Amino acid sequence: MQVAQLERFGEAPVAAQAPDPEPASGHTLVEVRMSALNPFDLRVAGGEFYIRPPLPYVPGSEGAGVVLHSDRWPAGTRVRFGASAPGGFAQRVLVPDDQLMEIPDEVPDAVAAALGVAGLAAWGGLDVGRFRSGERVLVLGASGAVGRLALQAARIRNASRVVGVGRDAKALAELVGPQGADAVVTLQQRDAADLAQAITAAAGGPVDVVIDLLWGEPALAGVMAAGTGARLVCIGDAAGPTLALPAPLIRSRQIEVRGYTNLALSPEHQRAALRSLFQHAAAGRIQLEHEVFPLDQIATAWRRQAGSPHRKLLLQL
Ligand SMILES: NC(=O)c1ccc[n+]([C@@H]2O[C@H](COP(=O)([O-])OP(=O)(O)OC[C@H]3O[C@@H](n4cnc5c(N)ncnc54)[C@H](OP(=O)(O)O)[C@@H]3O)[C@@H](O)[C@H]2O)c1
Repeated sequence: MQVAQLERFGEAPVAAQAPDPEPASGHTLVEVRMSALNPFDLRVAGGEFYIRPPLPYVPGSEGAGVVLHSDRWPAGTRVRFGASAPGGFAQRVLVPDDQLMEIPDEVPDAVAAALGVAGLAAWGGLDVGRFRSGERVLVLGASGAVGRLALQAARIRNASRVVGVGRDAKALAELVGPQGADAVVTLQQRDAADLAQAITAAAGGPVDVVIDLLWGEPALAGVMAAGTGARLVCIGDAAGPTLALPAPLIRSRQIEVRGYTNLALSPEHQRAALRSLFQHAAAGRIQLEHEVFPLDQIATAWRRQAGSPHRKLLLQL
């Protein structure tokens, strides 16, 4: 079968041939139609991450396809697979049964593939942040895939005010209104105190939940803009891996900083979140632009993903 495989850390994957996976008990063999690219794939492929698969390997941790062989699912069932299943950039993949979910008829393959990891982080991040209807939500890194979905999820779940923060002013401006944000704030030329002031003004008061995809200075501003008992959910660190966080700041307002990973959500929690995302997508309440690349253009897609594409990039198998 055709795959995209990584032959050297730090480089893009290349198209190659590989043997088909053998069916195994407790696993489902899936004919992949669409695979999604994620920052996680690039991080692993950089070779400096704690996960360092032996080379060569096939990246790709999620996608949509059709069941070929399974003890649990009838052949032909359309399924979304993820999140710890390796080898998604391949025509066929073997996935543990509990990492599959049936895709509703109204949701196309591309939408199911695009909403998975990013949607889970957005929806599950609000869950882990114990978001309640009527609270103010701040999304740091709003112009990316997770950020866009977090804005829309917060809106659907009745946030009183949703504020998006990011670097790219043009991309941010598109997020106001139907894309979920009530207001946006750019990161340009601001120190944390200035940024916090702008966020509080845009939110109409201190924020309750911070969905943080950036860490670094923007996260410090997020904490400064947070109210008593607020929860900051650290999902990503696109702005930098470290942050000097003054203790009095979190102590005086009893702010909770919660680390987040999709992998810690139970299979039931993942399925419930995906069901909600698929329902809202089918009803047109959740939208995420995507762009599809054929497998032999993996290097182009990979470069685009590295440059913050402001949409979901997919591989068609
Ligand atoms: N923990 C989990 O389970 C989980 C799951 C999914 C994603 N993530 C993480 O969440 C983050 C976002 O993922 P994604 O899929 O949304 O990625 P993406 O679509 O590539 O978006 C990247 C976002 O980060 C921003 N950004 C990049 N470098 C930046 C910098 N130096 N300073 C400020 N902003 C910067 C981009 O802003 P501009 O384009 O405006 O510059 C964009 O909003 C990544 O770090 C990813 O690894 C974690």
